[in-house]
Amino acid sequence: MQNDSQVYRLVKGDDGLQLKKSSQAKAALRPHDIRIQVHAASLNYRDLLPMRGPIDDTRDGLIPLSDAAGAVLEVGSAVTRWKVGDRVAPTFFSGWQSGPFKKDHLATALGGGSIDGVLSEQIVVPEHVVVEIPAHLSYAEAATLPCAGVTAWHALVERGGLKIGETVLIQGTGGVALFALQLAAAIGAKPIVLSSSDQKLKRAIGLGAWKTVNYRTQPDWDQAVLDMTRGAGADHVLELGGPDTFERSIASVATGGKIAQIGVLTGFGPTPNLLPVQFLNANIHGICVGSGAHFSALNRFLETHRIKPVIDTEFTFDQIPQAYDHLASGQHFGKVVIRL
Ligand SMILES: NC(=O)c1ccc[n+]([C@@H]2O[C@H](COP(=O)([O-])OP(=O)(O)OC[C@H]3O[C@@H](n4cnc5c(N)ncnc54)[C@H](OP(=O)(O)O)[C@@H]3O)[C@@H](O)[C@H]2O)c1
Repeated sequence: MQNDSQVYRLVKGDDGLQLKKSSQAKAALRPHDIRIQVHAASLNYRDLLPMRGPIDDTRDGLIPLSDAAGAVLEVGSAVTRWKVGDRVAPTFFSGWQSGPFKKDHLATALGGGSIDGVLSEQIVVPEHVVVEIPAHLSYAEAATLPCAGVTAWHALVERGGLKIGETVLIQGTGGVALFALQLAAAIGAKPIVLSSSDQKLKRAIGLGAWKTVNYRTQPDWDQAVLDMTRGAGADHVLELGGPDTFERSIASVATGGKIAQIGVLTGFGPTPNLLPVQFLNANIHGICVGSGAHFSALNRFLETHRIKPVIDTEFTFDQIPQAYDHLASGQHFGKVVIRL
């Protein structure tokens, strides 16, 4: 077994945070730890935020990224759940495995703040913070699940209780959005997809979109949503945009409908006018990724429905900066993956 593994770290310099590749000595395993050979990792919009601000709580030298999949390489002396060769992925929050969310779970997010993430050839984690990945998925496909997949599942199914025939408004064609589209289509709901690109919208129809709207050529997309639902509005709205989209999301939601507050694609403020939510008897659900139990439930659903995540591009470990640039360009449709 190799003694050193290659790793990327976010290093603070005069020009802000820079990604630097280095070697890392093999960490000793505690009794309940497992060592994972990482075969693939994936990027999320969240991974761009430390470079962009305004949140700068990143520890100097942090290993970034939350999402990976790999094979168990070695187990600690007291490990009972896993054996060498098992195919696993770490959960986004090491502290949130099941039950309701608690405030202190937030500080256990992989690859953010001060907790090292997964952009490494090998990682060591306690045995209880990984789940088995679906048998029908490759490592690259499974590496897309921990953040984007679990967030869409938590929002639509666990909190949203999405039912057959309900309408779901989905913003964009990035990672969370396409998981939401695939899950909603498999449930028999009616996904409405917004995108800046007609070409991407065509591909969304291929994945089961019921209706589509180009938000560039039709900036009053809330009106389009009302028109296509005969004035009723969407039963579920995945709010991914933030300040520039929230008021139109509220204008798009049905009476008694559910808005899942998830994204910050257009920034972090200001707060929208919430008064219309009251007159719609609508609900706003704050969504913060999800638990290990949510991840396992998502995996069972993906296996049952033979759903494969949509990968836009795969980069090698040496092409990490290009992978970040590609995600930042917004050209992608689905997930950006790194193969190790
Ligand atoms: N709360 C949570 O737990 C949680 C978890 C995961 C992600 N998030 C957040 O959710 C958002 C999406 O994350 P992601 O990783 O899926 O991002 P992503 O893969 O980078 O997707 C970005 C896509 O969003 C679309 N978009 C951008 N601006 C838009 C706008 N004004 N209106 C509608 N669509 C727009 C674009 O799609 P087109 O190219 O089709 O226009 C763009 O390609 C981010 O803000 C992220 O921070 C939150």
